[in-house]
Amino acid sequence: MERVKTGIGGLDEMLNGGLIAGRPYVVMGAPGAGKSVLSTQFLFEGIKNNEKVLYVSLEEAKEELLQNMAVFGWDMSQMKILDTAQELGSERWVLRADTLMNPPEFTLDNLIKTMWDRIKVLKPKRIVVDSVTSVKMLYDKDFQMRRGLLSLMNFLFKSEATSLLTSTESSMNLMEQSLASGIIKLHKIESRGEIIHALSIEKMRGSDFDKHIRPIKITDRGITVFPNETVFEKG
Ligand SMILES: Nc1ncnc2c1ncn2[C@@H]1O[C@H](COP(=O)(O)OP(=O)(O)O)[C@@H](O)[C@H]1O
Ligand SMILES: [Mg+2]
Repeated sequence: MERVKTGIGGLDEMLNGGLIAGRPYVVMGAPGAGKSVLSTQFLFEGIKNNEKVLYVSLEEAKEELLQNMAVFGWDMSQMKILDTAQELGSERWVLRADTLMNPPEFTLDNLIKTMWDRIKVLKPKRIVVDSVTSVKMLYDKDFQMRRGLLSLMNFLFKSEATSLLTSTESSMNLMEQSLASGIIKLHKIESRGEIIHALSIEKMRGSDFDKHIRPIKITDRGITVFPNETVFEKG
């Protein structure tokens, strides 16, 4: 099976060479745990290999995302971005893509349609949907939300890209966790008044993987995983 390198030092080692290509994965963690940094780094690895990549940014507008990622010095000019923004002077949230003259309202149907239009033309090898929590908030009924999520996951499978869906932790996210081919969890642990960042792989279909929680560092070079270190000292 083809493996796709995440580009995150140490993580590919934990994954025995990378993610199995063409499948959707969930990246979960609390706000500030590093989901967007990890996602961007994953796409940037694709850009370095001359692959086409698509970032579906539903939490941060494109301008904000580019600003937040600027510190890492990654050249994002090749990254196609589809985002949401509130229309000036209205309550309406719309989907934006550089090819859309009339941005449609942010609904799941429109999201999938817009993504499909982009994917047909771009044929991306890597897709990020950041975050699936924003998709869920489109629904006020649980069963509709589950149906919507199922459509999105099915759609990502069909796209043939290797995709990451970010998700904040809650009891509501069992659905995407069971549908995903794998789950990467980002931890924020408080220890003696300090916040420690860490990463673990919770599930990976069709592959062996490192079962430990490993410390990570977020610096201006992105995320580095320390696959030979443990978070807690023994004893
Ligand atoms: N240049 C940097 N150096 C060190 N830490 C950074 C840098 N940029 C962002 N961070 C850290 O990365 C985290 C933000 O990650 P982000 O991916 O936006 O979180 P999430 O998407 O999970 O909410 C924050 O904890 C922030 O402190
Ligand atoms: Mg984020």
